[in-house]
Amino acid sequence: MKPRVHFVGAGPGDPELLTVKGARLVSQADLIIYPGSLTPRALVDLARPAAKLLDSAKLTLEETHAALMAAWRAGGRVVRLQAGDPSLYGAVAEQAELLAKEGVEYEVVPGVTAASAAAAAFKVSVTAPETTQTLILTRLAGRTPMPETEALRQLARHQASLALYLSVADPETARAELLAGGYPPHTRVGVAHRVGWPEEELHLSTIEDFPDLVRSRNLTRQTLFLVLPGYGAKTRSKLYDPDFTHGSRGRRIQHNPILDAPGDTLVCYCGKVDKKTILHAIAAGHDTVDKLKAVTNICPKDNDCATNNPHGRCCMAEVTALLRAHGGLV
Ligand SMILES: C[S@@+](CC[C@H](N)C(=O)[O-])C[C@H]1O[C@@H](n2cnc3c(N)ncnc32)[C@H](O)[C@@H]1O
Repeated sequence: MKPRVHFVGAGPGDPELLTVKGARLVSQADLIIYPGSLTPRALVDLARPAAKLLDSAKLTLEETHAALMAAWRAGGRVVRLQAGDPSLYGAVAEQAELLAKEGVEYEVVPGVTAASAAAAAFKVSVTAPETTQTLILTRLAGRTPMPETEALRQLARHQASLALYLSVADPETARAELLAGGYPPHTRVGVAHRVGWPEEELHLSTIEDFPDLVRSRNLTRQTLFLVLPGYGAKTRSKLYDPDFTHGSRGRRIQHNPILDAPGDTLVCYCGKVDKKTILHAIAAGHDTVDKLKAVTNICPKDNDCATNNPHGRCCMAEVTALLRAHGGLV
């Protein structure tokens, strides 16, 4: 017999980010237990009018279990909604333990985790060819201590992309640990607050600046930090490179006057970006200085690099000249 108890990943908050399977189970359930403080009420709008809705925020584990068992014994179908993906920082294990004691079968339906939703909202890739191919999902210690080997500064040493959950209460410690682990201070940090909720806030900041941003915006709970060392990286995926052949595509020769230009000249005097990177970005349609700033490492803080490179000059004059030469807006 099919299980009648489902732990369903609710996604980050946008009801449309519930999986099709999750939505079907919600629409068929007799009892839906949902974490009211973590999932917007709109998620349970799919429920049948006769379905019973229970907000777990106000209940203990034993109380939600008792309600679940009562519905199950009456032959009903139960959905236990869990924020994001149930396997991450959720409480499925302890609920499953109680179900196992009663001999009740259950199924887990995955959900869109906050890190994926934040990456999509920022329109960024957390992996960048040759820069980082790894995403670490972690948190700062809170009331739940962290295993010593997973201290943030240890994980930061990998210099990989990193999604920091459950850490908005202490962004200063997060910054100190990320810097102690070796990330450069100008590394981009996406601050995503309540992604997918009506009150969503997205801020693209840096490691050195994001704690001030969190404080000034008064961000609490449901905030995720996405550390993006590959942000604006100049490499591109091999899979779609015209010079890279694979089973589905043979070699093609393409000429593009912009991309064929010599790329070895340094545009950015502090060494963060070269000419080819700028040209690729212009060719991809980033045709203003602001757009270029958003996708490359040029001037993360206006003109700051001029004071930090041996030439003492800012690269913006060269960047605007390139834009002018290739039809961009200056
Ligand atoms: C108890 S954990 C639950 C994580 C959840 N299982 C997931 O996969 O996203 C709660 C943390 O997830 C993050 N989070 C959950 N929903 C979020 C959202 N809509 N926007 C930003 N961060 C969110 C925040 O870091 C929050 O502190």
